[in-house]
Amino acid sequence: MGSESFFRLDGKVAFVTGGGQGIGEAICRRLAQAGAKVGVFDRNAAAAQRVALAVGGHAVAGDVTSEADVETAVEDVREHLGPIDILVNNAGITGKAGKLWDLSKEDWETVLSVNTIGPVLCCKAVVNSMRERKYGRIVNIASIAGKEGNPTLGPYSASKAAVICFTKSLAKELVGQGDITVNAVSPAVIATPILEGVPQATVDYMVSKIPMGRVGKPEEVAALVHFLASAEASFTTGQCCDISGGRATY
Ligand SMILES: NC(=O)c1ccc[n+]([C@@H]2O[C@H](COP(=O)([O-])OP(=O)(O)OC[C@H]3O[C@@H](n4cnc5c(N)ncnc54)[C@H](O)[C@@H]3O)[C@@H](O)[C@H]2O)c1
Repeated sequence: MGSESFFRLDGKVAFVTGGGQGIGEAICRRLAQAGAKVGVFDRNAAAAQRVALAVGGHAVAGDVTSEADVETAVEDVREHLGPIDILVNNAGITGKAGKLWDLSKEDWETVLSVNTIGPVLCCKAVVNSMRERKYGRIVNIASIAGKEGNPTLGPYSASKAAVICFTKSLAKELVGQGDITVNAVSPAVIATPILEGVPQATVDYMVSKIPMGRVGKPEEVAALVHFLASAEASFTTGQCCDISGGRATY
């Protein structure tokens, strides 16, 4: 068996945005357990440091909406750990909850900037190196909201729909340039601190839509991301894989 069998990631370098807590932390822990060297990128420097210490990785503080921050972070991780094989675009915010008539242009721009432009900038920063090395795995964390549209979360839903379609576009652009895949995952409600900023009525609405009748765990999302980040996931690209307790069967 080769060293890459059974989903091992030995020798691979991962870059996880928003790795300082929640789903991103679970992804950092899972990829590190599988053998990857993990660059933990987060705008919360202390959180990134805490997780990097726990997984034996490298912490970089920065904001995904800043092209300079992203480029500096990618270079920093390359210097410390090596060129990036696995990019997980996980950093995201829900933004202000409200109906269209309650939200400003700035409310929309803030969410679209983090959730949509952030992943675009991170992909831009790593993709040429992946093309040169003819290998790469990109996993974008979207949301069920991006498939269905949750009320009072218009900017968030639209930003995640954009991530899903960006995933499909980039996947097709990279076909034929080596073993490089681009996929998304669309979780339903997952128990993380992000929910603290969402009104309870909205959380209740989202859970009521889940046939399994419970919230998901960050570790469950990390397991799916691990598969998509592995060398074995070589015939899957441009997909948005569901992880929603049965809410979306498409
Ligand atoms: N928790 C859920 O119910 C759920 C459901 C579907 C999708 N998601 C998506 O999963 C991802 C992770 O969510 P979570 O629940 O773990 O969130 P979280 O709020 O617990 O953690 C998000 C992390 O991203 C970091 N971050 C936020 N904005 C950033 C920026 N501009 N630059 C760099 N880092 C930034 C934060 O500091 C934080 O450490 C998000 O993209 C979210 O939209 C979450």
